[in-house]
Amino acid sequence: MIQELCFATRNAHKREEIAAQLGGNFRLLTLDEIGCTEEIPEPEATIEGNAAYKARYVWEHYRIPCFADDSGLEVAALNGAPGVHSAYYAGASRDFKANYELVLQQLQGITDRRAQFKTVIALVQSDGSLHTFTGIITGNITDAPRGSNGFGYDPIFQPDGYHLTFGEMPVALKTQISHRARAMQQLLDFLKQ
Ligand code: IMP
Repeated sequence: MIQELCFATRNAHKREEIAAQLGGNFRLLTLDEIGCTEEIPEPEATIEGNAAYKARYVWEHYRIPCFADDSGLEVAALNGAPGVHSAYYAGASRDFKANYELVLQQLQGITDRRAQFKTVIALVQSDGSLHTFTGIITGNITDAPRGSNGFGYDPIFQPDGYHLTFGEMPVALKTQISHRARAMQQLLDFLKQ
């Protein structure tokens, strides 16, 4: 039987990418396709909390099983900041460059540059149960931005085992090894069981 599943995103491209990996047992729907046009709030203090909130919101309002993702950059010397605030770390304009420049400024003179990107995917199934999947990639914050590929903090994040930042890497390579890919793979393995 084909099961309907909402991916709490407005990005049809993201949906296509996951649908292709999921195979024919699921019909994957975006928020717009289930009639959810309102902005879903992100009121929680953690990445885990916000992913779960979004998936539960869809389940409670639309009664469709749903998964939602939330991501952020966690810098060890900044006690895990920007973390859940990654999108608007330097202010409400959500400016990528201002955000990473603030991180670089806060790390000036600090030798511990360890950081990680984290994605949490929360899945609420048709019985209302919640499962979470976490994808992490560890690395270091560079001294200065390098590269213009990708988005967000990519120019200042150099993953362990690579000499390129995410901003310098071909997008296809980043997409393969990223925190998002790791969390998605766990979700796919779970759904295919
Ligand atoms: P979201 O939850 O995927 O929307 O991510 C929240 C914020 O975390 C983004 O606006 C970016 O600032 C940052 N972020 C998440 N994933 C990445 C990434 O792969 N590269 C760079 N920044 C990211």
